[in-house]
Amino acid sequence: MQHNYEDVSDGVLDAIGNTPLIRLNRFLANPRIELYAKLEAANPGGSAKDRPARFMLEEALRRGDLRSDSTVIESSSGNMGIGLAQACRFHGLKFICVVDPRAQQQNLDIIKALGAEVVMVTEPLGGDFLAARIAKVCELLEHNVNSFWPNQYANADNPRSHHEGTIREIDEALQGGFDVLFVATSSTGTAQGCRDYLRQRSRDVRVIAVDAEGSVLFGGSAGPRHIPGLGAGKEPKLAVGQLFDDVNRVSDLDCVVGCRRAALREAMLVGGSAGGVLMTVSRMQDELVGKRCVAILHDSGTRYLQTVFNDQWVQESLGCDATTLRQLAESDDYYAERRCQK
Ligand SMILES: Cc1ncc(COP(=O)(O)O)c(C=O)c1O
Repeated sequence: MQHNYEDVSDGVLDAIGNTPLIRLNRFLANPRIELYAKLEAANPGGSAKDRPARFMLEEALRRGDLRSDSTVIESSSGNMGIGLAQACRFHGLKFICVVDPRAQQQNLDIIKALGAEVVMVTEPLGGDFLAARIAKVCELLEHNVNSFWPNQYANADNPRSHHEGTIREIDEALQGGFDVLFVATSSTGTAQGCRDYLRQRSRDVRVIAVDAEGSVLFGGSAGPRHIPGLGAGKEPKLAVGQLFDDVNRVSDLDCVVGCRRAALREAMLVGGSAGGVLMTVSRMQDELVGKRCVAILHDSGTRYLQTVFNDQWVQESLGCDATTLRQLAESDDYYAERRCQK
């Protein structure tokens, strides 16, 4: 018997999108800034990457670049790997996910639980694990006739998924009335899709890209980074020549403090890049008075319990002890202080 209930999703992929937009009343010290958070962790795979994962596959299926008996091959050990594992399983596609030893075991377990095959490269290529993973993807594509590489770092369907979904939902919810949008960047797909949608509708919204210190995006120089999903070690094809109204760089510690503060003040467990985005809003408070701001929060803190939310990891990786970290999360003078930055 077939029912068509309006509020019922037709399969898990149909539940991607329409994530909550939440007013944050407590995160900022200044009550004269209206801040909203787009909670992408509410997607069924747990992150914003569900959107491009689904969109890239379904567009490729529609165009005939991908067939129902094809093997999907991608290099990712994080949210995109999970999003693709979910979308591939749903469509009955075989998925091989190429990862390296830096991947979090929890993510690999999720990817495997969704039926994907995980191939681990063990040696870096020229000192670089990303290069080793791409070389492995190319090798697998050669050996698997009828295979498809979504290649999120060069695929225009990645930004399109956010153009059709993420920003459209925000714009409709706020009826086009907001002033500043804060977006974390890696492939830059999210930020591009949002910016293009807003420009096409002539919205007077500043789009602020939030990147990591140590990321090469937007002319940055490479350095150590500890927050997965934020920044890039090599400039993706998709990011070349991309301009946003402003670029704000955050340190690993900024991200951790933002996550801890969101938990303390808003009772929200947000992921590392989301912590960095929220701290960027906090840092810019003086120029945001009277403005309506939106921060896209890409994923949930539950993926970071062993890192961002683990005092020992923060101490060992970022040199900040638990007492100082708590003070920084509680204090509104964080940027004046920055006491424990290495
Ligand atoms: C947690 C997290 N934040 C931010 C981003 C950046 O998104 P984009 O690749 O669209 O720039 C990603 C992408 O992987 C991510 O996983």
